[in-house]
Amino acid sequence: MTDHNTLRDEGVERILISEEELDRIVSGLAERISEDYKDKTLLMLCILKGSIVFMGDLMKKLTIPCEIDCMKVSSYGKGTVSGGRINILLDLHRSDLSEKDILIIEDIIDSGKTLSYLVEYLKINGARSVKSVALLDKPSRREVDYKPDYTGLEIPDEFVIGYGLDYAEKYRSLPYVGILKREVYMK
Ligand code: IMP
Ligand code: MG
Repeated sequence: MTDHNTLRDEGVERILISEEELDRIVSGLAERISEDYKDKTLLMLCILKGSIVFMGDLMKKLTIPCEIDCMKVSSYGKGTVSGGRINILLDLHRSDLSEKDILIIEDIIDSGKTLSYLVEYLKINGARSVKSVALLDKPSRREVDYKPDYTGLEIPDEFVIGYGLDYAEKYRSLPYVGILKREVYMK
């Protein structure tokens, strides 16, 4: 690291997506979503914790009204490999899903298991419509056939951190998306 040479950035091999580029990507997504949902009842559903930063930036750029809610699921165990089994750690407790057009806000899609599971789960629970937006997509890692309705950027198969994304709960506060140094998780 040269231009982000602080304690906070230790562990970052290099910046993959700068703050400025993230801003452009999120603005583009907000524009499309605002247009597509202008006659709908949008409920933005943040998948904790990785999507917090993305959700905050995205909702501020929407030109239409929305409600927000959160769910927490886990698919990752420790480390950089997906566990595959989805556990709901915090559920949605609402009785008005049949009136809501849910947009699932996900930081990154990897195997696809989390998003494909959540879409089905929310439909079964009566949502009027369910779509998804993933800021980042690693298509080469897909294990189930699922494509988000909106994607910010496709990236190569590298473990990334920052802008909400973590490794072992660290690095979420980085304002950019960076590639994690291999030595951090090979230790
Ligand atoms: P999937 O169910 O395999 O698609 O996993 C998606 C989840 O895995 C994301 O919501 C992230 O929490 C996590 N994840 C996948 N790739 C990365 C990464 O490169 N950095 C940090 N978290 C990741
Ligand atoms: Mg996540």
